Amino acid sequence: MQIDLYNNQKFEVKPFLKWAGGKTQLIKDIESSLPKEIKKTKEIKYYFEPFVGGGAIFFYLVGAYNIKEAFLYDINKELILAYNAVKNDPEDLINLLMKMEKNFLAKNDVDRKEYFLDIRKKFNDDVPSFNFEKYSPDHVKRAAYTIFLNKTCFNGLFRLNKNGEFNVPMGRYKNPKICDSKNIRNVSECLQIAKIFNCSFKTSKDLINNESLVYLDPPYRPLNKTSNFTSYSENEFNDKEQEELAQYFDKITDKGAKAILSNSDPKNEDENDDFFDELYSNYNIVRVKAKRFINSNAKKRGPINEIIVRNY
Ligand SMILES: C[S@@+](CC[C@H](N)C(=O)[O-])C[C@H]1O[C@@H](n2cnc3c(N)ncnc32)[C@H](O)[C@@H]1O
Repeated sequence: MQIDLYNNQKFEVKPFLKWAGGKTQLIKDIESSLPKEIKKTKEIKYYFEPFVGGGAIFFYLVGAYNIKEAFLYDINKELILAYNAVKNDPEDLINLLMKMEKNFLAKNDVDRKEYFLDIRKKFNDDVPSFNFEKYSPDHVKRAAYTIFLNKTCFNGLFRLNKNGEFNVPMGRYKNPKICDSKNIRNVSECLQIAKIFNCSFKTSKDLINNESLVYLDPPYRPLNKTSNFTSYSENEFNDKEQEELAQYFDKITDKGAKAILSNSDPKNEDENDDFFDELYSNYNIVRVKAKRFINSNAKKRGPINEIIVRNY
């Protein structure tokens, strides 16, 4: 289903990272929720994604619609570093990744694990002295590490421990595709229309106007106490932030932007939980079925409801 959808685009392009909460499953629902004029003309003037993550919806839309300019934001600095490296230096990145892929796939299981742990260690050891602010060839190397770890680690999770270290173990893949050169080139081409920011969703408000389409996919409100689903970065996203996001939603509505927001439905766990129904009581809310991909508990990966909120 995923492959077919991305193949239907005019220009074939898909996420270059696996990402927790990735919205491939929701593409059709989001597409049918788009404003009528956009569905008719296939034109989007200013596209905003303040929680871009792996960008499942952005990469679908950018291949299927004409987007004039895109504005992508995420608080995760490693993710944004990787987006910028793909945008600016696809060929150098591909060269590095091809070498890593060749090295890794030639090894037996024991040696692969050693190689994986070695890259993970370098990735973590570099942090204290790394200049995240100033773009340089070091960023391309670091992006190659991020992509390598993402394609070979357990479930493609990005998880940092309390010390800010990436600590996901190696996954069990026979032949992981570490370097998808064609897609990296296509992603790079699509990102030329994008401005990419490493900051909070709140900053995006300033640039949004009445010609903007905004898709918001914040971290999930955990379904239960043991779920660690919101741990994308050191920053937690608690109920207070969900409330601030609802205020932001009001503000961009006042500016005349068209906005769509998705989140997990708390009613999956507790049918009396009206958290989002109350927060977004002034807007259109629909519930759709989705499959949850990343959950450490295999039994909890079945279909669940997601909510989609629209201000039009
Ligand atoms: C549910 S994921 C988005 C997934 C994305 N739609 C996809 O298809 O891959 C939420 C994202 O929000 C980011 N995030 C968390 N807190 C944030 C904040 N305050 N401002 C901006 N981004 C934030 C996380 O790093 C994560 O990438």
